[in-house]
Parts: sequence; structure tokens; C-alpha cells
Amino acid sequence: MMKRRPEPELMDSEAQTLAYAEADFDEANSLFVDNFRHRFNKLPGNGRMADLGCGPGDIAIRMATLYPGWNISGLDAGENMLKRANESLANSAVASRVDFRLAYLPDPSLPAGAWHAVISNSLLHHLPDPQVLWDSVAHLGTAGAAVQVMDLMRPESESEAQQLIDLYAADAPDILREDFYNSLLAAYTTVEVSDQLMKAGLDRLKIETVSDRHWLVSGRLAN
Ligand SMILES: C[S@@+](CC[C@H](N)C(=O)[O-])C[C@H]1O[C@@H](n2cnc3c(N)ncnc32)[C@H](O)[C@@H]1O
Repeated sequence: MMKRRPEPELMDSEAQTLAYAEADFDEANSLFVDNFRHRFNKLPGNGRMADLGCGPGDIAIRMATLYPGWNISGLDAGENMLKRANESLANSAVASRVDFRLAYLPDPSLPAGAWHAVISNSLLHHLPDPQVLWDSVAHLGTAGAAVQVMDLMRPESESEAQQLIDLYAADAPDILREDFYNSLLAAYTTVEVSDQLMKAGLDRLKIETVSDRHWLVSGRLAN
């Protein structure tokens, strides 16, 4: 198995955030939202959801649209990313229920046990210490909170990573192809994530492979 090659934690240059915000992540973001909808089909009508490392905010806005009684907090450490997120929000019909805020995790000043659902897509592979995400999930969720985390899965080799780039990002701008490649090499494997969950006392959450390049963790925090 290829060794993990970390990438910079924050992706917040103007060029990177613009390319990322304008990229078409419909397939991955739909995979995320559809899985959440099917897995948590008995959510109450009202609640608070936190999206950790929300980036340009597409998933948070989709969640607010899908759950009209819910308020969504998008948390991210990148100021430029949040600028993009707020631009998209201003053009949406859910602006009053979505709040994008600057937060660098771990952030002990965030209220403990305040969110009934905690979600995160593609944050984990940016973190030098992966426990930061799992500890934040445990800290921020209410008892019994719905949790869903998805990320890329590290391929066996660099050539396998390159094949995925050629398959899924053939026509993407160079900056995005490079970002995708680096992200695949920085991603954690399902075995590594299972160990992280165990270490965080979150082994009641289950991990599954949901595409040729994504794993997904879901379940509920203890009551
Ligand atoms: C690959 S982007 C994913 C964005 C979004 N969740 C999506 O699915 O498109 C990763 C995001 O995590 C943010 N990030 C990285 N480290 C962070 C930390 N310690 N605390 C909060 N956000 C962080 C970055 O600023 C970036 O916006």
C-alpha cells in the first residue's frame, strides 16, 4: 500500500478557491446528500446541522434546501472559501437558515453538544492529525446526533491515482487535476479510518466504500 503523502491543510489562495468553487462536484455532492437522505430517513422536522470544513458551501446549501425546518452552520478555516460560500448563499433561497462561519478545528470555543447532525465531506484528508475531525464530531454533536463523513480513499499506487484523474477529471483545469491527485495521495484508507474511529471512541459509526474513490462513515452518536 502506498504511503500517505500529506498536502497543505488549508486551500485558501484566490486561484485555488475560485477553481474549486467553480468546479463541478455534482456527482460527489449528490452522492453525499443522497446517502444522508437514505440513511437518516426519519429525521425530525427541525434541527441544527453542522458542516465541518464546508468549503464553498454547496453541500450545506443542498442540505438546507432538502430540510426546510433545519438550520445549517457551515464551519471552515478558509476566509476565501467562506467568501465563495456566502456568494452562493446570497443567490439561494435558503439564506436565512444557513450561517457560514470562520472556525479552525479543533475549536473549543464552539458550543459542545449543540448540533443534531454533524456532516463533513473531504476535510479529513487535509488534516495532519485526523483525530481533530473525529474529536470535533464527538464534541459538537448532541447525544444521538446523526453523523455522516465522506472522503477520498487512498489508491494502492500513484499510477492508480493517475488513472482516477484521467477518468474523472480529464477535462478539468490543471490546478484542479493537481489538487485531486494530491488529495488522493493524502487520503486515508478505510483501515486507517476504522482505527481513528476506535481511538476516538466512535466505533459505533460504520465505514463503507461507496464508490471507486470514496468511503463514507455514518451512524449516530451514543445517547
Ligand atoms: C477539499 S475542501 C472540502 C470542502 C467541502 N466540504 C466540499 O465538499 O466541497 C476542504 C476544506 O477544509 C477546510 N479546512 C482544512 N483544515 C481545516 C480545519 N482545521 N478547520 C476547519 N476547516 C478546515 C479548508 O479550508 C477547505 O475549505
